[in-house]
Amino acid sequence: MKKLLVEGGTRLRGQVRVGGAKNSAVALLPAAILANSTVTIEGLPDISDVQTLSELLEEIGGTVRKDGQTVEIDPSTMISMPLPNGRVKKLRASYYFMGAMLGRFNKAVIGLPGGCHLGPRPIDQHIKGFQALGAEVTNEQGAIYLRAKELRGARIYLDVVSVGATINIMLAAVKAKGRTVIENAAKEPEIIDVATLLASMGAKIKGAGTDVIRIEGVDELNGCLHTIIPDRIEAGTYTIMAAAQGEEMIIDNVIPQHLESLLAKLREMGVTIEENDEQLYVRPGKSLKSVDIKTLVYPGFPTDLQQPFTSLLTQATGTGVVTDTIYQARFKHIDELRRMNAAIKVEGGAAIVAGPSKLQGAKVKATDLRAGAALVIAGLMADGITEITGIDHIERGYENITNKLIELGGKIWCEEMSKEEVEQFQNS
Ligand code: EPU
Repeated sequence: MKKLLVEGGTRLRGQVRVGGAKNSAVALLPAAILANSTVTIEGLPDISDVQTLSELLEEIGGTVRKDGQTVEIDPSTMISMPLPNGRVKKLRASYYFMGAMLGRFNKAVIGLPGGCHLGPRPIDQHIKGFQALGAEVTNEQGAIYLRAKELRGARIYLDVVSVGATINIMLAAVKAKGRTVIENAAKEPEIIDVATLLASMGAKIKGAGTDVIRIEGVDELNGCLHTIIPDRIEAGTYTIMAAAQGEEMIIDNVIPQHLESLLAKLREMGVTIEENDEQLYVRPGKSLKSVDIKTLVYPGFPTDLQQPFTSLLTQATGTGVVTDTIYQARFKHIDELRRMNAAIKVEGGAAIVAGPSKLQGAKVKATDLRAGAALVIAGLMADGITEITGIDHIERGYENITNKLIELGGKIWCEEMSKEEVEQFQNS
């Protein structure tokens, strides 16, 4: 088991290239199940979630060929194999196997998904959607059983705006008989990306990116070539790093419109950001001013950038209040930041950050993916060395983060943990 070490204080400089969007990739790969011939996806990020999902596609009989960032999936030999345990527990997005397998085979058995612990993460809206399409859904010994004689289009109103439920219902509905309307759908760019892939496969989908998505079911979907969108959360994380510890940084392969809420907040803090077609040029201000943030569904401030942003706020003058309306308990990074001397308290469901505080290197634990990113940012700004355990979480979502930061001048490296450290980590 490895730990990540970050020596703080060096300024970051130069250009960093953002990879393909993790939260698109994890839906695009299962979506390939619905085709009857090879689906090629270009620009996939080199992260462990992509690896896990590729292995799951092989587990159900598919052929997956990877060549750099391009993956070819031949779904023609897939079978409706139950996936109750094992790899499905490694990540949350394995729930997309429910919609995709139901859509192709009219049945699926999938274990309850794993993923980051951010408080309760129910999937009732996914199930409500599958049931509306005609599936019988039962929970038997920790696995979800889905069976349908035939899927039929339906009008589905989501009680909660959910990225996962919107995508999962799209996957199940594209081959259902007749018309499906998803109301109060999520509008995240990843949803548009999945709809684009499905449309290239021959699906009839209108309205992805708005809160009403209309789908006319088709009998067959074919293979196609798709290029994934850039990862707005990875881009946002490096933009925050640039504001925190950069001198002059260019973030390359970005769709700036996907990050408007973050960029507005950074500008409010005094950071200069210029936008080109596919790049952000970031120059931090002489001093940073505190701001409040409240996470909301897209296009509001993304919950996935709340934790990295909190690290930045520790360096701003004044008090900043961070409220997460999507995951009210997404504050596990706060205790770790406090170990590094940050002045933060959690009160009434909000984190109140008083700054600026001089951060100090410490031994900390990444409890989830974005908490890990928050600790890397804090480590870059801190005096001395920060040791981060739990780096599996970081590797699930940030491709080559160590190399990317080294190229920017950061001092960051991995070391093997001692036996005692592994024991301590496992018991903590
Ligand atoms: N919710 C329900 N019922 C449902 C589904 C969701 O109550 O059936 C609630 C959730 O508990 C949450 C809110 O609705 O409070 C939004 O959840 P959503 O379904 O949108 O989240 P998700 O699809 O499970 C995706 C991303 C997350 C990201 C959220 C919100 C993937 C694989 N994950 O999760 O990404 O935080 O949308 O934008 O796409 C991350 O990348 O670090 C990450 C956690």
